[in-house]
Amino acid sequence: MVRETKAPGNEVPTEMQRTLPSSAYLSGEAFERERERIFATEWFCAGREEALPSAGDFLKVDVAGESVLIVRTRSGDLRGFYNVCRHRGSRIVIDDPPPPDERPERTGRFRGSMVCPYHGWTYGLAGELRAAPFLAETDGLRREELSLHPVGVDTWGGFVFVHLSPEEARAEGRTLSSQLGAIVERTARYPMVELRAAHRITYDVAANWKCIVENYNECYHCGPVHPELCEVVPAFKQVGGANLDWDRGIPHREGATTFTFSGTTDRAPFPGLSEDEQTRHKGELAYPNLMLSMSSDHVAAFTLWPKGPGRTVIDCDFLFHPDEMRRPGFDPSDAVEFWDLVNRQDWRICQSVQQGMSSRVFRFGYYAPMEDLSLDIRRYVGERLNDPAG
Ligand code: FES
Ligand SMILES: [Fe+2]
Repeated sequence: MVRETKAPGNEVPTEMQRTLPSSAYLSGEAFERERERIFATEWFCAGREEALPSAGDFLKVDVAGESVLIVRTRSGDLRGFYNVCRHRGSRIVIDDPPPPDERPERTGRFRGSMVCPYHGWTYGLAGELRAAPFLAETDGLRREELSLHPVGVDTWGGFVFVHLSPEEARAEGRTLSSQLGAIVERTARYPMVELRAAHRITYDVAANWKCIVENYNECYHCGPVHPELCEVVPAFKQVGGANLDWDRGIPHREGATTFTFSGTTDRAPFPGLSEDEQTRHKGELAYPNLMLSMSSDHVAAFTLWPKGPGRTVIDCDFLFHPDEMRRPGFDPSDAVEFWDLVNRQDWRICQSVQQGMSSRVFRFGYYAPMEDLSLDIRRYVGERLNDPAG
């Protein structure tokens, strides 16, 4: 029988710990609190920098309900803005209702300036108001006070991150690198900045973002859910995925070095990896919304887009070294097809958890000892919602 403990989340648990209550995964109110205290307060991964190669390029993303523009300026840096005109509030780039199978996120290019489609107020690529048709200072126009509302932008490893409250972040010293912490060091030999996406699969998953992160954090489920993956990485099914050494990397079966059905590939390992990294698999979770799975020859990068308590859109980008992508016959499908199977297995089970949690009999669950890392999400969310017990 499971014993319940009163131990606070920061201790190494010796007994099974309760999960967050089911309401944390189901209620709109909980999601609203997370929007305010997590997605508007933390650096949020918004995609790959390679989506914005030239001056004027923009990426429009939806950060948990806020439409945001990320723009490449003439000087080559990235700036971010709320997609909200300072005049009457129109979108600068209009969110036309997308077809059901399409995403609101998209790229495009401004021709030198950003022009609001409503009355034509015109902003420079750094967000400054340049012109408002038929208005002058004598009409009370204070151009210097009417720049687009800024969003913080920073990059790491070729990923673009945005911060919806940049002034608070600055005042509190909440930099991207402080948020990423030890991840930067642990991934230092992977040439993340150089990698390019050869393929993207977007999944629309009917599950709370925390279900997906918790699932990513444990391999207790790998035996039952991922038989093909366990063929390549037998360690995942041994003792419920306990004792996995993620710092050193997870060993594959004899003769296998990567996440494909055969466990092999004709792609070379990334240059600069350690001996272990050339044959083992590593994973990182950069809260709140980036999950990285690193093989020696490719990285599967998952960007989570929380859309509501019961829905998360997930972009899975397959990143490769450009030298390999230039080789004749380059074909990412061995990795893509393997991952697509594993991903679908994960999303299916996450959706089943979301459904089960909505039952009247389910109030909370438990973390088994081999799910200790999932306690992080209880702690992470609890700290930010000022409710350590969740
Ligand atoms: S709302 Fe943008 S110019 Fe009027
Ligand atoms: Fe999984």
